[in-house]
Amino acid sequence: MASAWKEEASALQVPPARFRLGDPRWLLELQHLPWPMDWVACFGRRGPLHVELGFGDGAFLTALARRMPEANCIGVERALEPIRWALKRLRREGLKNVRLVLGDAFITLALLFTPGSIAGLYINFPDPWPKARHHHRRLLTPAFLRLAADRLQPEGTLLIATDDADYALWIADALKETPGLESAFETLWVHTLPNREPTRYERKALAAGRACFYFIWRRSGPAVVPSLPRIMRSEEAMPHRIWKGAPELSRVVEALCGRLWQDGETVWRVRRLYRPVEGDGLLIELLMAEGQWVETVALQFQPHGPGAWILKPAEIGGLRPTTALKIGVQAVALAIEEAVPDLQVLSSTI
Ligand SMILES: C[S@@+](CC[C@H](N)C(=O)[O-])C[C@H]1O[C@@H](n2cnc3c(N)ncnc32)[C@H](O)[C@@H]1O
Repeated sequence: MASAWKEEASALQVPPARFRLGDPRWLLELQHLPWPMDWVACFGRRGPLHVELGFGDGAFLTALARRMPEANCIGVERALEPIRWALKRLRREGLKNVRLVLGDAFITLALLFTPGSIAGLYINFPDPWPKARHHHRRLLTPAFLRLAADRLQPEGTLLIATDDADYALWIADALKETPGLESAFETLWVHTLPNREPTRYERKALAAGRACFYFIWRRSGPAVVPSLPRIMRSEEAMPHRIWKGAPELSRVVEALCGRLWQDGETVWRVRRLYRPVEGDGLLIELLMAEGQWVETVALQFQPHGPGAWILKPAEIGGLRPTTALKIGVQAVALAIEEAVPDLQVLSSTI
């Protein structure tokens, strides 16, 4: 039992120095931004929003910003290496009309952009995940395309490029089924787009003789927004509960170890419990998942002044107080109270 939960806090790793990114001129981290983002304040001016999701080495994004100096261009990436490459380009070129967001494309689109706000949305060579059992990892899903349509302004355009013929057929069918979008061409896609800055994957595809499929679809009518997972739907007050008493930690550990709660499609699971190197308390690693959306948060259960204990989100990782976090803290608090019934609640926001 002990090995299942007793992890050394010292095992926590600091990212290597080359991954220290923070360049506030260009880089924004999703978890520290307001929902939705005030892009006018961010860029210091109004301008049409052009957004590239999964920008890779950043060549397309920087070319876009160079060609449209009046546009406010935003690149979204979830991987660190592409962010580093793009930052290098931005430093070299000194472009002022670009911001990079480190975060997931769907979540960023949902949280930071209001309906009807984007003039151009670009998705170049999204990972095709060709095996059927990996399709759930694809960025492009019917829900994603409905969200993309909703975020485009009237006549705003969605560009998708791929060199995977099977994926292209799936994309064509999915776009036809997406309310509010129509092809800007007479065909569903075209095989050449003049005056385009080729991306890294595009250059590789063309060099290997593979045909590329380019979709440009326009916002032409009302969209139908997908319902967003609860783990990212709204912000609440930061949840906590304080008790009077002296809990026996081994009982709390036993009650929490591997514990799972489910409400509809949302699942909360205690993944690991850590003990501090010094002093009393527990760090609880809690996984929250709904469909493909997964978030891991840390909660602290620790002494809080003489004779009192507190359960609260840990002050690491810039947590957002979502509805799901509140429910997760509530579930853990109830499990602690079941394990240690003589705890008395002193104050609680859950
Ligand atoms: C196949 S690469 C294409 C890169 C670039 N667009 C190009 O054409 O060269 C896919 C890129 O999308 C990024 N990506 C994949 N899924 C993502 C997601 N859900 N959110 C943000 N970026 C994502 C990956 O990190 C990767 O950089």
